[in-house]
Amino acid sequence: MSRGCIGVTILTLLLTITTTPVISWRPWPHLKPNASDLLYGGSKKFEGSSEFVHLKYHMGPVLTANITVHAIWYGAWQNSQKKIIREFISSISDVNAKHPSISGWWKTAQLYTDQTGANISSTVRLGAEKNDRFYSHGKSLSRLSIQSVIKSAVTAKTKPLPINPKSGVYLLLTADDVYVQDFCGQVCGFHYFTFPSIVGFTLPYAWVGNSAKQCPGTCAYPFAVPQFMTGFEPLKSPNGDAGVDGMISVIAHEIAELATNPLVNAWYAGQDPSFPVEIADLCEGIYGTGGGGSYTGQLLSDHDNATYNMHGIRRR
Ligand SMILES: *[C@@H]1O[C@H](CO)[C@@H](O)[C@H](O)[C@H]1NC(C)=O
Ligand SMILES: *[C@@H]1O[C@H](CO)[C@@H](O)[C@H](O)[C@H]1NC(C)=O
Ligand SMILES: *[C@@H]1O[C@H](CO)[C@@H](O)[C@H](O)[C@H]1NC(C)=O
Ligand SMILES: *[C@@H]1O[C@H](CO)[C@@H](O)[C@H](O)[C@H]1NC(C)=O
Repeated sequence: MSRGCIGVTILTLLLTITTTPVISWRPWPHLKPNASDLLYGGSKKFEGSSEFVHLKYHMGPVLTANITVHAIWYGAWQNSQKKIIREFISSISDVNAKHPSISGWWKTAQLYTDQTGANISSTVRLGAEKNDRFYSHGKSLSRLSIQSVIKSAVTAKTKPLPINPKSGVYLLLTADDVYVQDFCGQVCGFHYFTFPSIVGFTLPYAWVGNSAKQCPGTCAYPFAVPQFMTGFEPLKSPNGDAGVDGMISVIAHEIAELATNPLVNAWYAGQDPSFPVEIADLCEGIYGTGGGGSYTGQLLSDHDNATYNMHGIRRR
């Protein structure tokens, strides 16, 4: 995930994102397989760039009440995988983790306010969880059918997810054998809000997929590398699951954007609200000081050689 720089105005044109009207992200910068681009400096998205994007406030609400993340596990998930994701979410508000910490990263999101001057909440909690083990809407989901999955979760006969439009966000996590529209080609995750006509309520939500089987080089970079990057070794992931560790960066990205732009009318840059450049887009692919192009920036590494950029509770 992109420590710190979510609040810093770093240039990014993100032209390729504008090919599709989504609020989305991939950790891998949109580079062509051109060796000169693969070396750091090939992209203008590095710290110290003299060009800036200023996020503007468009008067809509931000998440100022304690944020509760309700998770939907779609398809087959192992407990070890769920644990990595749960502990990441619980780490956002945990101020006891070692520096550099996930809660330190979240402090940047907290700098954003709404019209009343209220800040983004410092508290992010894991809420209720729903298992959709048997792929209720199949193994290939469109953007709209994602809303139907959320509807099924909030209207289930047994243990429905609570409906909490004020401070709840809904996180749909798809297993590695689920294809989602535009997954891998254009996005690794996105956020939006549900339509009352489909779900019955306007609820901010995000989808993030496990890319392990479909495109880890794209969506779990740098724990996997794209084929065209010959000669680059993937970095060892900190929790022993490259696909899920890669998801953590995307989840962090989407939660920061849900908090600052939940109804896509609050904090973003750019003229066109269907193609906004949001808080975490500003540091796409940048995980530490000096990052840019394919260079992750300075990272931390432990005796087991796993690479990471911040500490949470019990995990890197
Ligand atoms: C790669 O980039 C360099 C410098 O920008 C350019 O001269 C070259 O034509 C590019 N090669 C390809 C295959 O696009
Ligand atoms: C919000 O979270 C804080 C810190 O965890 C807690 O003290 C407070 O009671 C919570 N407020 C509500 C309304 O739940
Ligand atoms: C709230 O936002 C303002 C404006 O960005 C900032 O100065 C202040 O430090 C923020 N407060 C917290 C607790 O982050
Ligand atoms: C870590 O990397 C170093 C240098 O490449 C190597 O010598 C060492 O055996 C590695 N340690 C582990 C636990 O893999």
